[in-house]
Amino acid sequence: MRAGGISRDTLQHAAAEIAQAIDAAFDQLLPLPADARLRLYEAMRHATIGGGKRMRPLLVYATGNLFNVSFDSLVRVGLAVECIHVYSLVHDDLPAMDDDDLRRGKATVHKAFDEATAILTGDCLHDLAFEVLVDPLTYADPFVRCDLVRALAVSSGPSGMAGGQMMDLEASKSGFDIQSVTRLQQLKTGALIGFCVEAGAILGRVPPEGRGSLRGYAHDIGLAFQIADDLLDVEGNAELAGKAVGKDAAAGKETFVSLLGVERAREQASMLVDQAKAHLRSYGAEADLLRAIADYVVERDR
Ligand code: IPE
Ligand code: IPE
Ligand code: MG
Ligand code: MG
Ligand code: MG
Repeated sequence: MRAGGISRDTLQHAAAEIAQAIDAAFDQLLPLPADARLRLYEAMRHATIGGGKRMRPLLVYATGNLFNVSFDSLVRVGLAVECIHVYSLVHDDLPAMDDDDLRRGKATVHKAFDEATAILTGDCLHDLAFEVLVDPLTYADPFVRCDLVRALAVSSGPSGMAGGQMMDLEASKSGFDIQSVTRLQQLKTGALIGFCVEAGAILGRVPPEGRGSLRGYAHDIGLAFQIADDLLDVEGNAELAGKAVGKDAAAGKETFVSLLGVERAREQASMLVDQAKAHLRSYGAEADLLRAIADYVVERDR
């Protein structure tokens, strides 16, 4: 079977290589200490090692490959964004937010440990992201590292993921329309996905004015990704997804699916994927992995 010009095997191979590199890097960065912080490190390892699609690190890798960035740099930047992503999931699952028991097929951190440990786990993963980015091992040029830090900070904070999470909590209280839900999703999910593609370009020394088509691609797959997540919540399988489903409707949350219905939401997602791939028209076969990721974003079942 073909996906975006390359075989699904090639996509799976790249995804497996990145997942393995990310697992190994977390394992190396989080050795268990022989003191009272042990529980915190165990919780960080529980949250980060051996799970998830690692789609954000894969996106960093696929974009950086357009510009021949070294594998080690791409894995370290992928690790940094995965730290932020996992922290967001650990906090998202807390009783004060979505109150979930299952994540990536395992108990959520506050269930396997406790709430205070889960809060600290998220905090420390947030810190670890920036510790990894500023390390000269990530990239020799400090100006490039500074650019990466700024971009990750903006996409994680109130103008990015955390701001989107606030809007998401409000979405169950006030009747959000399609414009508000689009903005919510752009912040909650799209901003970090945007960072992944931006980071590949920053590492590739592409000037901001040369990043337009990549930004367009990231914008469109980011929205499509969250529509797919909302569809999975309605018609997905908890065992496959590794997390509870049916949560958004139960919370009375407006999503693309609640506003448009399943069919139109799916059409919208696949239209966004076509649009995302159209943004890559100036690239040749070197962008096939990005095209395959775009297809995967809406075809996935987890
Ligand atoms: C889930 O993200 C949360 C959203 C932002 C929609 P993923 O679907 O990427 O979760 P993992 O990393 O594979 O567990
Ligand atoms: C959470 O969105 C996104 C972030 C953690 C930023 P959801 O609440 O929809 O994610 P899931 O469905 O629990 O993975
Ligand atoms: Mg949530
Ligand atoms: Mg959730
Ligand atoms: Mg969801």
